Amino acid sequence: MGVSGVGKSTVAKGLSTVLGWTYAEGDAFHSAANVAKMASGHPLTDEDRWPWLRAIGAWMDEQIAAGEPSVVTCSALRRAYRDLLDAGRPQVRFLHLEAGEDLVAGRISHRTDHYMPASLLQSQYDTLEPLEDDEPGVSVSVDGTAPEVLRRAIDALGLADAPTDEHEGDSP
Ligand SMILES: Nc1ncnc2c1ncn2[C@@H]1O[C@H](COP(=O)(O)OP(=O)(O)O)[C@@H](O)[C@H]1O
Ligand SMILES: [Mg+2]
Repeated sequence: MGVSGVGKSTVAKGLSTVLGWTYAEGDAFHSAANVAKMASGHPLTDEDRWPWLRAIGAWMDEQIAAGEPSVVTCSALRRAYRDLLDAGRPQVRFLHLEAGEDLVAGRISHRTDHYMPASLLQSQYDTLEPLEDDEPGVSVSVDGTAPEVLRRAIDALGLADAPTDEHEGDSP
């Protein structure tokens, strides 16, 4: 979770590579209407978001049913969105990627492959409700290089000793 441009996709791909987990982009679960609305610079309403969040939840249910350790990116800025995502899914843990607005603005300005205009960044920070103590998960700063942030995330999630594909078949 975290605002657009904070590094969700970068960290999720890293977790997927290092841990061998299945990975999905939350953005890919948006309807065409939502994508068009964001592309034209209009923030989504909660009415736009509920079906999107339910679609992500349905994907998580499939992964849980299949016993597949998985990671999915989702801004999940408000507590209400996260409550929808983890309700009835005790397996869910949130990873909140945190950064000041200046850092994210700088990173977004270099990005060419994405439909989120920088003008939406302010509304993202206005909306953001940081991860709370009674929610499952951890918060980490995205200050530093991508490998540094990935290592920080793995440590914070307590996954440093998790088995990886790399080690499969190794002798003790
Ligand atoms: N730790 C980092 N240091 C420098 N640039 C980064 C870092 N993490 C991500 N980026 C770059 O910042 C931009 C936004 O990252 P991205 O993972 O797409 O964010 P999100 O998925 O949260 O929108 C991308 O161009 C990405 O390559
Ligand atoms: Mg992304």
